[in-house]
Amino acid sequence: MSKLAHRVKDLKPSATLAINAKAKALRSKGVDIVNLSAGEPDFDTPGHIKEAAIKAIEQGFTRYTPVPGIPELREAVCTKIKEDYGLEYSIDEVVITCGAKQALFNLAQALFEPGDEVILLAPYWVSYPPIVELAGAKPVIVGGAQERNFEPDLKLLEDALSPRTQGLILNSPSNPTGLVYSTEFLQGLAQLARQRDLVIISDDIYDHLRFDGKGPENILSVAPDLRNQVIIVNGVSKTYAMTGWRIGWAVGPKEIIAAVSRIQGQSTSNANSIAQKAALAALCGPQDCVAEMRKHFKRRAQLLYQELSQIPGLRLTAPQGTFYTFVNFAAYYGCLTPSGTEIKDSLSLCDYLLEEARVATVPGIAFGDDNCLRLSFANADEEILKGVARIKEALTRLKPAS
Ligand SMILES: Cc1ncc(COP(=O)(O)O)c(C=O)c1O
Repeated sequence: MSKLAHRVKDLKPSATLAINAKAKALRSKGVDIVNLSAGEPDFDTPGHIKEAAIKAIEQGFTRYTPVPGIPELREAVCTKIKEDYGLEYSIDEVVITCGAKQALFNLAQALFEPGDEVILLAPYWVSYPPIVELAGAKPVIVGGAQERNFEPDLKLLEDALSPRTQGLILNSPSNPTGLVYSTEFLQGLAQLARQRDLVIISDDIYDHLRFDGKGPENILSVAPDLRNQVIIVNGVSKTYAMTGWRIGWAVGPKEIIAAVSRIQGQSTSNANSIAQKAALAALCGPQDCVAEMRKHFKRRAQLLYQELSQIPGLRLTAPQGTFYTFVNFAAYYGCLTPSGTEIKDSLSLCDYLLEEARVATVPGIAFGDDNCLRLSFANADEEILKGVARIKEALTRLKPAS
């Protein structure tokens, strides 16, 4: 076999996609799995969005589009950002990508290189470290304590900056913790970005899934003067239940967006033409579907929190947004399973819960915190109740190590 390039040798598959695939495979064999690992809404894409895609096919909208996306979708993204954040952008400051993930990947390729350091706030989304590393740069992790809802201390963040720090990736509301970063944190971060000339990638993919009734907020909401240093990443996957359609975008200074487009032009070309029309319908059509899904996620967040709080030893943080909660199970580490295997870490606990409780969860180590598991509430109430009951029962079967 021919040799593999260095850059892929240590590249791990996405832990979240891997667990989801394992759970789906067990299910297809007839095993009754409760899936609390999903990274996507369990709702179907709203009908008017699907109809727009069908119409696009029927009208023959099936050819290449401009690399940065169709102008009307880029325009709709500008309008949306104006409505949500009060920020003005023009269409040459927008590139449509194959999901927010590709926007992040292309931005890292455009902005970072060997020798650069990029700050990631832990717990972080699984794909940030490999995206930074594939650009040749080094992720520098700044962790947030659970007592502070996982929001890092600004002093720690400042201490982590070096002359090599190029930028930082911020995700609020956060996958995996459900944390909405406080306005004070955003202001403090803005101050550092100003002083140190940092690029901030603001991954706003869950911005419509916050539960406090407030509208979206990102670093530019508190520091509009940083417009030339901030790139907004977003997409339709989570807000409109459109994960499979693969439409996202990056919005920011013209030169950076043009660079992202050049990378895209030599890799994937334009995002899918039909999905772009569907995304246009999502952004321009009725928005009540978003409020409806958010209402369900908020109720389920409370249900899951309430049920988990009945299990002794767990440390919980109430999610403020997204469809995830990040739960500390470390009190069970060191225990033995009925077959005598030690629960050593988040991976061994996840395996135990999948095999013995038939509940799929995601190990916290994938997000940079081995004490926790990520539980998703993108699932029906009955499944959440069943899943937590199974976890509780499986934990009572563990024996404390003597
Ligand atoms: C924090 C975060 N950013 C980006 C993405 C990627 O979303 P998309 O489906 O638009 O590629 C995800 C998906 O799980 C995510 O959780």
